[in-house]
Amino acid sequence: MVQLTDLSDTAAAALLAWQVAAGADEAILAEPVDRTRPLPAPAPQPAVAPAPTRPRSLAEAPSPSPSSVRAPAMPQKAAPPTLIAQDAKALAAACKTVAELEQAVRLYEGCGLKKTATNTVFADGNPQARLMLVGEAPGADEDRQGKPFVGLSGKLLDRMLAAIGYDRGSAYITNILFWRPPGNRQPTPQEIQQCLPFVLRHVELVNPAVLVLLGGTSAKTMLNQTDGIMRLRGRWFEYKIDESLPIIPALATYHPAYLLRSPGQKREAWRDFLALKLRLSNAL
Ligand code: URA
Repeated sequence: MVQLTDLSDTAAAALLAWQVAAGADEAILAEPVDRTRPLPAPAPQPAVAPAPTRPRSLAEAPSPSPSSVRAPAMPQKAAPPTLIAQDAKALAAACKTVAELEQAVRLYEGCGLKKTATNTVFADGNPQARLMLVGEAPGADEDRQGKPFVGLSGKLLDRMLAAIGYDRGSAYITNILFWRPPGNRQPTPQEIQQCLPFVLRHVELVNPAVLVLLGGTSAKTMLNQTDGIMRLRGRWFEYKIDESLPIIPALATYHPAYLLRSPGQKREAWRDFLALKLRLSNAL
């Protein structure tokens, strides 16, 4: 087996760069681990029964009609992740104000991402705003500052909002996840389920005139769709939490981080924001 110490500096640097590109960009232990030391022989393993079948993931959930969607329901099976989601649902339902919800999220221990995050990132902007935007998850800057969209993609989002006459005093911004996934990796369906009851309650309490879903994770989760953002983008959906509550028009659009990587798509995002401006002025 090739040891790291056998490699030239260039090859070792290339391996490290590959790890960073794959998302392993942080040391999460206080002390470095010497992974070049030979491993002890593995202990004999007891025989194990096959694991029980896992609950269906969010991505496998049946998709409702494309233009009228209900907020995603929590799965009903009694597996531990589901119990956590049910717990979160009860905690979220008990919150009568956004401030109470924020407190409940800060105290919540049902999402493992909290253990590796520096801060809980709940929301920024004006909770009375008519415009609410939902992104994916905090990145490194957001984790450090405890606020959503404060890094490079946040700067672009601010410019996009300014172009239609909005800012953080007139818009409200949150994410599907309240804690940063290590190395900005894609959140797992379980992590999304663990946070989702709070996100749904968040929308219900803010009750915006218009909801904007930034990127695939946000759009697929909130609209309970399996299509990717390329198909969902630019479309309006009728988001309803349940039958007794009013419909909220919801627009799926590209995530600003994607626009930074693919500036050619800004034209489409601009189209979306113009439609958003019109919808907001009609909803006055
Ligand atoms: N990307 C997101 O989706 N949310 C943030 O808060 C920052 C970057």
